[in-house]
Amino acid sequence: MKPKVYPPDFVGYENLIAFMEERSLHKLEGDIVEIGAFMGGGTVKLAEYARKHGKTVHVVDIFEPALDQTASKSGMTACTVYEAYLEGRSMIEVYQEAIEEFDNIITLREDSKKIKFDDGKRFFFGFIDGCHEETYVTSDFHTIWPNLVSGGALGFHDYEYDDWPEVTKAIRKLVEEHRGEIDEMIEVEGVYSIRSLIVVKK
Ligand SMILES: C[S@@+](CC[C@H](N)C(=O)[O-])C[C@H]1O[C@@H](n2cnc3c(N)ncnc32)[C@H](O)[C@@H]1O
Repeated sequence: MKPKVYPPDFVGYENLIAFMEERSLHKLEGDIVEIGAFMGGGTVKLAEYARKHGKTVHVVDIFEPALDQTASKSGMTACTVYEAYLEGRSMIEVYQEAIEEFDNIITLREDSKKIKFDDGKRFFFGFIDGCHEETYVTSDFHTIWPNLVSGGALGFHDYEYDDWPEVTKAIRKLVEEHRGEIDEMIEVEGVYSIRSLIVVKK
């Protein structure tokens, strides 16, 4: 039987996982949350790591290219980018096929602004790579941060990436506003030289 070919990811999730492994974040209470999974290429990497440690990955994505008309600085909309990679396939179908072997993934197909986790839900790692508008990055942070355990980490993709300036604008504001709750900030290299900023909660 041919080995399964997973979709690519656009972050470099290996580096995020290496970060979690180096710090043994999985020993903390809680699970992983990812906002913005696209084809699931990164989700399956998170899920494999999570499975080794008896953890779950909660995924939030609307899985509908037409609903993300955010324009990048170069003039392309997010929708156009998604459709170019999907080559006519349905985003949700590609994602579902990618994750089918994992029983530790909980998918929430919803606009991320509508997601509210129960007060008791705990995460040791969160990653934000959903809609790249400032209000969404800010909202996604507030969706995860209250549920992130002490010592846990939250990553933002596209940090200081020129094509999506609203992401960095939102991150800078959030970091300033929550400075007193942040223990450490680490930049992690990714694919296409696009970095993620990880903030560790006190
Ligand atoms: C840049 S892609 C994520 C790429 C993924 N992290 C990877 O590396 O493969 C952004 C994702 O955010 C999702 N998205 C866009 N707007 C959203 C919204 N309002 N609510 C939830 N998800 C949204 C899109 O459907 C898309 O899958």
